[in-house]
Amino acid sequence: MSPYCHFASASAESVDRRVDRHRLEEDGYVVVHDVADRNAAADVVGSLGDLVPQYNGRLTHEVTYRPGNDHRAYSQSANTILAHTEAPGWDPSPAYLALFCHRQARCGGGHTDLLDVRRLVDALTPAEVGVLTDAELNFPGPDGGVRTTMLGSDGTGRSALRFSYNLLTAADYDPPRAADVEHSRLPLGEAGRKLAHRVSDLFHELRTRVLIPENALLIWDNQRMLHARSEYADRSRHLTRFWAGGRTRA
Ligand SMILES: [Fe+2]
Repeated sequence: MSPYCHFASASAESVDRRVDRHRLEEDGYVVVHDVADRNAAADVVGSLGDLVPQYNGRLTHEVTYRPGNDHRAYSQSANTILAHTEAPGWDPSPAYLALFCHRQARCGGGHTDLLDVRRLVDALTPAEVGVLTDAELNFPGPDGGVRTTMLGSDGTGRSALRFSYNLLTAADYDPPRAADVEHSRLPLGEAGRKLAHRVSDLFHELRTRVLIPENALLIWDNQRMLHARSEYADRSRHLTRFWAGGRTRA
């Protein structure tokens, strides 16, 4: 069976109307409310492009509390992840990411934080933007990954953003917390490390914080928006993640 066929599809017309494409285009993200379940969420995300198998080889990834997260460098504290785009070493990286919320954190935190690269570019110096647009680096991934700049366009004028704070600062998407990496091993050396810290600081200053309501779906443009997850402690928090690829754009 094709990995794209795991979900029965609902009426294309009814599903297609669920996503406010104008809002998605304007803001780079949109929240779709009153989504019945995981299958309905898959249909809605699939209206933007084919669902893409994720790191686990499946079309869905269950996002749940991971007690082990606090020994990873990306986890400054429980279950946080620093600014990145998803799967930057995949070619193409997913066009859209989506999170369907089964159960939200009930004792604070658990937001999905987003930052539009347009706002980021406005806040950076020209020299810093130059590192994003001009310096090529290797993004590890399937089939050897991708060698490209962090910020380019996809040929239609749309941004094509690939970013990983961890890769720039520790030469690994998922490094051990104690990782202290020599400049010479970093993809862009000290310039990349400095930029990563600048982006992380601006991310915290400028981010939009979304607490996805239960039975709602947050969808964002993964080639335009940086994302990160804030700390939370509720071990019952549960979301399902989808990637939509293809080149079909809203
Ligand atoms: Fe992510």
